[in-house]
Formats: sequence, C-alpha cells, structure tokens
Amino acid sequence: MLVTAPVLLEFCRLLALTAGNKDSLYKSCRYTLASVLCLPLSVLGASKSPTKVIEQVLPFAREIVELVLNGLGSETMLVPRTDLEELSNFFKVLRQQVLLWMPDGSMPKNMYSRECKRTDTWVWELHEMSMNLLKRVDECLKRLEMDLSSLSSDTRGVIENQPIWVTRLHILAILTELDFISGIFEDVAHNLRFVLLAHKAPLNALVRCSKRNEHLHWLMKHKDLLCFEARRNLVLMLFSEGKDDYGELHEMLIDRSRLLDESFEYITQAKPSELHSGLFMEFKNEEATGPGVLREWFCMVSQALFSPQQVLFLPCPNDQRRFYLNGNPFTYASCKRILEMGAAEIDDLTLTFSRDVHTLGSRKTIELCKGGQDISVNISNREHYIDLLIKNIFVDSISEQLANFAKGFGDILANPKLREVFFGCLDLEDFDRMLGGSNNTINLKDWRSHTQYNGYKEKDRHVNWFWKAVESMTVEQQRQLLFFWTSVKYLPSEGFGGLSSKLYIYKTTESADHLPSSHTCFYRLCLPPYPSLKVMQSQLQKITQEHVSCSFGTW
Ligand SMILES: *[C@@H]1O[C@H](CO)[C@@H](O)[C@H](O)[C@H]1NC(C)=O
Ligand SMILES: *[C@@H]1O[C@H](CO)[C@@H](O)[C@H](O)[C@H]1NC(C)=O
Repeated sequence: MLVTAPVLLEFCRLLALTAGNKDSLYKSCRYTLASVLCLPLSVLGASKSPTKVIEQVLPFAREIVELVLNGLGSETMLVPRTDLEELSNFFKVLRQQVLLWMPDGSMPKNMYSRECKRTDTWVWELHEMSMNLLKRVDECLKRLEMDLSSLSSDTRGVIENQPIWVTRLHILAILTELDFISGIFEDVAHNLRFVLLAHKAPLNALVRCSKRNEHLHWLMKHKDLLCFEARRNLVLMLFSEGKDDYGELHEMLIDRSRLLDESFEYITQAKPSELHSGLFMEFKNEEATGPGVLREWFCMVSQALFSPQQVLFLPCPNDQRRFYLNGNPFTYASCKRILEMGAAEIDDLTLTFSRDVHTLGSRKTIELCKGGQDISVNISNREHYIDLLIKNIFVDSISEQLANFAKGFGDILANPKLREVFFGCLDLEDFDRMLGGSNNTINLKDWRSHTQYNGYKEKDRHVNWFWKAVESMTVEQQRQLLFFWTSVKYLPSEGFGGLSSKLYIYKTTESADHLPSSHTCFYRLCLPPYPSLKVMQSQLQKITQEHVSCSFGTW
C-alpha cells in the first residue's frame, strides 16, 4: 500500500489533466484512490506531513462533494452508492490527517471562521465543503418533511413499509459523514444538531426504516429527538443477523414433559457463537418444526423459568410482570420485630453483624461488614444492622447471578462491546415496552384488519361466525387462540402491525367434527366450514383451553 497510494495519486492527477474529470478511467482511478488511502498504512509516504497529504487529497474530495451536492439537489435527491462510498473514504482520510496534525481533534474557530481572510487554506476549504453539504441535506430534509405532512396520519405510522423511504437512506448516510467531520469543526456540530432538531419527523422516518448499519451509533447523542420506534430500530440493528441457513443452527430435540431441564442442558452446552447462528427446535414425537415452533418453545421456557414453582425469580408484589432474582428473602416481619424490640430482648437474640446462608445443603457465614461476626447487635446499632442485612440479601447475594444474567444478555448482541450503546440508545421505559410487549386487551378491529383469507371471502358467513365467536371469548381465551394460531401470546407494543406478516385463515375441506389446525410459522389457521355459529363457537372453545393451545400446530 505504501507504494500504491503515491503512484495512484500521481496517475489520477495526470489523468485529470489530460482526459478531464469526466473521463471514466479517471473516475474509477479516483474511486480506487479513495479506498486505498483509507487502508491502514497507506499514508502517502511516511515522511509527508499531514497537511501536505490533506492538500494533495483535497482537490479530489472537492470533486466528489460537488457530485454529491448535485445528486442531492436533483429532483430525485438520489446519489449513486459509489459516490457515497468515495465521499466517506475521502472524509475518513482527511479526518485521520487532521487528527495527526492536531491531536486533540478540534480546530480553533479562528482558523475557519468567515472573518478570517485565509480562504485559500485547506482548513477553510474543508469547513466550507462540510457546511455546503449540511445546507444541502437541510434542504432535502425540508422536502421530505413536506412529503410526510402530505401523508394521512394512518399511513405515516407505517413508514417502515414504504419502499420510497428506503431509497432515501443515503441522506442518513451523509448526515453520518457530517457527524464524523463535526468532531473537527465545532460549528458543524452545532449546525448539525440544529438541522436535526428542525426536521425531527423525516429524521425519525429515516431511522425507522434503516437497515443494518453499524455507523449509526452517533444518533445516540440525539436520542432525545427520536421516537420510540426509531430508538428501537436503532438498537435492534445491534443484534446479530438471524440466519436462514438451517445447516448451522444449534439443534435441540426436547421432551415437553422435561421442558426446562432439557432446554437448559442444550443451551448451557452451546457456545455463544453457536447461539448466534440460531436455533433449530423440535419437540419429541412431534412433526412440527420452524420459526412457529421455536416461538412456542421460547414462550413456554420463559413462562416456566419465571413460574413461582421454579423459585429462580420472584414476581414483584405490585407488578406481576417484573421479577427479581430469588435471594430466598428474609422476611420483612422479622426485620420489623427487631426494630420494635426492647434493649434486653435484642441482647437475648445474640445476633452479630453476620448472616448464615444455606446453599445446596452446606452452611456458610457471611459477614455484613468487616469483622461483623464479632460485633453484637444492640439497641443502638440495630438500624445499621438491618440496613446492611437488606443490602446483603437484595444486592450482594445476587450480584453474581445478576452479572451472569447481564453477561448473557451482552452475549446475544452482535458485539458485546456494544452493550453500552444498546442501553445508551434506550430509555428505561423503551426497554420495558420492548420486552413486555402489550398486555392490554387484544384489539379485535386491529386483529381483523390484519387477517387475510384463502378459500373464504371476507363477507362469508363462516368468517362472520368466526369473528363473532372470537368476540364472545374472554381476553385469556383470545390470547390462547392467538397463540394456537401464531405462537405469539403477547403482541408487540404496536399491536398486530408489529408482527412480521399478516395472519391467514385457510378454508379446509374437513368435516365439522374436526378441530381447526394451524401452521404457526406462517400465521395460518386452517378452519373447516362449520355449519353454524354454535358449532364454530364450541370448536374454537376447545382449542382455547390452556393445555390444547400448545402442542397442536403442525408446522
Ligand atoms: C396480563 O393481563 C392479564 C389480565 O389483565 C393477567 O391475568 C395476566 O396475569 C397478565 N400477564 C402478565 C404476564 O402480567
Ligand atoms: C452496641 O454495640 C456497639 C458495637 O459493639 C458498641 O460500640 C456500643 O457501645 C453498643 N451500644 C450499647 C448501647 O450497648
């Protein structure tokens, strides 16, 4: 590389002089130059000073910025992908060199401000280029803002499904480049924030329909401008991509009657990397496989894991959907009693600042403070004792398990180092919403509008009976039906629209004594044409019993 870069640079210069900068050979050389310069060790000769390198590279960077500006200014606002790459590469080189020249990174303002007359310097020029780009992006966002406001509020909600927004993602890419440069120029950073603030709606739309992109972490700084859906998409992009290739999946064959034990064995045997490539799951003596079965398994394991019988976790008394690790809690009552006792009574207890712990049959004494075993509890230090005791029970004793839990969580991120970014992007409530989904009543109108038919028509009396029957169910029964149909028990916080596909009802040719069946992977319910509302109701009732709604789908 050390050799290639100077040769390429010279070649580009000559080509530009002879063939002109519209020449296709020249353009491809310039593109190659940008990518070579970005490689490590490719500085144009170690002896060159950073400013020399910047001066040599800047004319080429100026050309590409010009192209990007023209693209953004056009009717379609489109910019070719290769131009974006080139822009990104040149900016990277320029910033690297600036950092060499000015190790603390940020340029003194008087070197590029308007008042300063040294308009010939590269510092001034790089600043001017960045500001022009920012101005053009601002104009684009303004146009997108108008686009958005012309949409009805219904369609605005499903931005993610509008292909047009995906073709505009380069605007986000250019914002990312500007953020990168804003580390050098304080006022670019300032104006960038201002532009984002002025165009929150299109910014959110772009972030919401972004695909995997490891360069978007900078948006964390502006998370206050993002809506829940945008923040959620930002962090979901941090997870490793699910693979479709069944060859590499971690395979599990699990007996329903030993669900937790066997699942636990399979998972603990697997390395984190194996879990990243996905799971393949089958229940013993059942045919069904695929994502629907996997969802069912996951739901059931979670339920089992958090069930009170397992005593691994205890539900919080005032919110049954939150849990803490079971530290085999010391009763509130005994603490209270100690605080109410008289001096003599306390002395009779002969307590010390320590606590006995029984784990798996053995007994261990834990000191609540240094030398705690030799400090007796008496009337004047009892409050301190209770404080330390509670801290020990609720914090110290589970810190190891909690650390493991956090580590496991980190392991499922594509890169555990991103854990900080992950939590940085989210508000606590966001995380709650993402994990908890919706436990509200199921919106039947929403359910119906996300259901399509095969063999039936929407106006068929069977379809009408079906929804009438659903309407007459309790919420819990509706949930069981949904689970039977899709292996989804709790809808995402945005309801049916948050699922990966519509739901389907297929007409089968089976007779009325057959129960409905399902293909949970495809959200497909196979429904025989029952002769009356009454029969429909009674057959659906049968599959909404807890023990039936699992383990019934085929595949
Ligand atoms: C969800 O809500 C239902 C009904 O309000 C309740 O019975 C159930 O326990 C809740 N589920 C969870 C996981 O909190
Ligand atoms: C209580 O115990 C502490 C520590 O042993 C001791 O310093 C203190 O004098 C005792 N107070 C009473 C009232 O016995």
